[in-house]
Amino acid sequence: MFCPILAVTNLKGGSCKTTTALHLGAILAEQGHKVLLLDLDPQGSISRWLREDSGGEEFLQALAGGGKLAQLARPTAFERLNLIAGGARLDRAEQEIAKSGNPIPQMVLAEALADPALREGYDFLVLDLPPQLGFLTLSALLAATDVVIPVEASTMALDGAANLVREILPRLIKNNPFLRPLGILVCRTQPQTRLTRDLTAGIETALPGLLFSATVREDIRMKEAFGHHLPVTLHAPDCRSAADYRSATNELLARMPR
Ligand SMILES: Nc1ncnc2c1ncn2[C@@H]1O[C@H](COP(=O)(O)OP(=O)(O)OP(=O)(O)O)[C@@H](O)[C@H]1O
Ligand SMILES: [Mg+2]
Repeated sequence: MFCPILAVTNLKGGSCKTTTALHLGAILAEQGHKVLLLDLDPQGSISRWLREDSGGEEFLQALAGGGKLAQLARPTAFERLNLIAGGARLDRAEQEIAKSGNPIPQMVLAEALADPALREGYDFLVLDLPPQLGFLTLSALLAATDVVIPVEASTMALDGAANLVREILPRLIKNNPFLRPLGILVCRTQPQTRLTRDLTAGIETALPGLLFSATVREDIRMKEAFGHHLPVTLHAPDCRSAADYRSATNELLARMPR
């Protein structure tokens, strides 16, 4: 079966990438899909959220040494949701892979993710990425099939998303024709405010068709969930951010070709 590789990216820091990657993954798993989260961020945020503080050494060694990624996957608190942990050691990925003699280091991740043990063992691979267009983000976007762009509901959010959609993704699609921008998800909204209304209207005008109609509301339960090392859907299943991420996940599935 076709196993989508979903990259959650935005080059702006603090735009809810990690929160979105975790919750799209957790809700797809809740719905019965087998999901593997890959933490490709040296900050290791998704790994810390799920209490898998490995530092990224195993992930680095597997990428540099041609090891099988499937063997690094660990179960999480959620049934059907597995994680390959990342962390600070991933900062050395480019150098270590180059040392291994691979002539195109940026393609190593794509080659590793093509492994049938992953593509047949999971229904979705979800990649959490750092906030720069460095080696790890480029490698991920050369491997991915689908891109979700979370933006934090703030005044600068439109510029970052527009740059990604108009300047960066079209260039990457020349090298990875399977890559498809699925949509832009506005997070941490305060729906009654003018800022949120102006931002969503601005995205719809500037980047037509990409805005998810679901938005994720600001919710203190999300911060608590991080402290409890759980997805919010387990920590407070009926809270508003859990409901919003469920709507966003349904919309994501509707936007994917069958
Ligand atoms: N719905 C929400 N309600 C309240 N806080 C939220 C919500 N979503 C995310 N946050 C908070 O916003 C902050 C940034 O989120 P997150 O870490 O997901 O962003 P990021 O894009 O991954 O950041 P980085 O660029 O550093 O990787 C975190 O403190 C997170 O707890
Ligand atoms: Mg992050």
